[in-house]
Amino acid sequence: MSIEEKNEELKAKIAQAKLGGGQKQLDKQHERGKLTARERIEQVLDPGSFSELEMFVTHQVTKFGMDKEKFYGDGVVVGSGTMAGRLVYVYSQDFTVMGGSLGKAQASKITHVMDLAIKVGVPIIGIIDSGGARIQEGLGQYGSIFYRNTLASGIVPQFCLILGPCAGGAVYSPALCDFIFMVEGVSKMHITGPNVIKAVTGEEITSEELGGAKVHSQVSGVAHLVAKTEQECFDQVKKLLSFLPSNYQEAPPAPADCDDPKRLVPEVEKVIPDSPSRAYDMKKIIRAIADHNDFFEVQPDFAKNIITGFIRLAGSSVGVIANQPSVAAGALDIDASDKAARFIRFCDAFNIQILNLVDCPGYLPGKHQEFGGIIRHGAKTLFAYCEAVVPRVSVIVRKIYGGAMSGMAVSKLVGTDFTIALTTAEIAIMGPEGAANIIFKDEIAKAEDPKAMRVQKVAEYREKFANPYCAAEEGWIDAIIEPKELRACLIGLFGQLKGKQELRPGKKHGSIPL
Ligand code: HXC
Repeated sequence: MSIEEKNEELKAKIAQAKLGGGQKQLDKQHERGKLTARERIEQVLDPGSFSELEMFVTHQVTKFGMDKEKFYGDGVVVGSGTMAGRLVYVYSQDFTVMGGSLGKAQASKITHVMDLAIKVGVPIIGIIDSGGARIQEGLGQYGSIFYRNTLASGIVPQFCLILGPCAGGAVYSPALCDFIFMVEGVSKMHITGPNVIKAVTGEEITSEELGGAKVHSQVSGVAHLVAKTEQECFDQVKKLLSFLPSNYQEAPPAPADCDDPKRLVPEVEKVIPDSPSRAYDMKKIIRAIADHNDFFEVQPDFAKNIITGFIRLAGSSVGVIANQPSVAAGALDIDASDKAARFIRFCDAFNIQILNLVDCPGYLPGKHQEFGGIIRHGAKTLFAYCEAVVPRVSVIVRKIYGGAMSGMAVSKLVGTDFTIALTTAEIAIMGPEGAANIIFKDEIAKAEDPKAMRVQKVAEYREKFANPYCAAEEGWIDAIIEPKELRACLIGLFGQLKGKQELRPGKKHGSIPL
């Protein structure tokens, strides 16, 4: 064969590999309303940046007539490319080849790029569209992927995009990643499918109701971000990555065009109501202080009483954890604790400074919370805060009572570097109503009009503590500022903490109360 012929042979093989399971299957994929594995890679990466690896891998299985079912790539496209110029490794399961099912060859391709990502120190983007372990090959190879997911955790960011079915034990690879993205009507994720459930419990439920984007973003908390279309999902991936470093040894990228660091934010004063019991939207404050008012929220529809997400302050990425007074008064509960703990640990692992915006009446009371283990779940948040060594600033926006002083890391005793109070802050061991009932119990009981006395005592207590000054006198507060100064103040404080280094005694790892 001449060189020209050999080159033509390569071109023909590449063209064949690009057809995956064949043109008919590619058309079927589009009919299902889904992009193909390669189209997804093209759209999530910078145009033309993808460089494919192991394109010609096929499985080596002969049983069940599998020797006649060979396709280049074996149901997954893997390689590297760039996102906004930054290198990432990517794998994208190809549903057109045996439903994207995972056998030995496919698993080996996926773990190859995961190993490269860990060694090179760049993010891993996994795109899932698969019927799970390949039935004809017997036992699945998922263990090798779970192992890499765990090794990569805390070394490089791991994103998993569920763009089709993700069933059975296969769900645990995404679950071990840092962020799960789902698309409405496209993504389905469950351990046991509707048929198994019907057979075992008699319950009838559709795949969408069981494991669609809605349930995992609102109820289970499995998913971090949901999009209406695949394109919107890719945009979310790119935006999220822009806040993150490529690995745990790097700082997050800092764009050159940062907002005015001295900008005052008078709008914050307008958001906080005069009445301490009136709700307001904390997200308005987050947007007000952020560079260019840009806030990228993570898990926006799960445990809405706590807000988690990323902003930039003078160009530097900041992970924000904030109570949401408009949902359950911003109280902490089981789901909020889990959501916050995970987010704090991610930020700490990847050198992202942490900002707490606090307006919290405490832990949500109730049998459901106690039986569900709020003690165990709340401990995760405390552990995460106490463990975090990145720069940390807490701001008391309005109220903070008792136990939530530590639960929201207001107190410097749990490792917070600076605690700031706005003039609107109220800081006390417990809320005025509860406190007055206890410390003025006798006076209220003996009064001619106990009801009136109680109102008077609640007002007295509030008068004494409905401000930041008592706590400031006791040394809890570093500075009291006007709300409009918040952005400039935070930029100054995080600026001071730029060189922070906190060395802890060496150990294998802690034992977080999971
Ligand atoms: C081999 C598979 C497959 C699998 C799908 N296919 N899943 N081949 N192994 N696991 C093939 C189908 O035979 C079909 O081939 C093609 O992929 C498309 O599948 P369809 O069923 O036609 O598509 P659709 O109607 O869209 O349904 C997709 C699906 C369904 C929901 C994923 O195929 C399904 O339920 N598959 C089985 C899912 C499952 O139970 N997986 C768990 C495996 S055990 P043709 O040739 O007809 O196009 C597991 C354990 C892991 O994962 C353990 C880890 C710890």
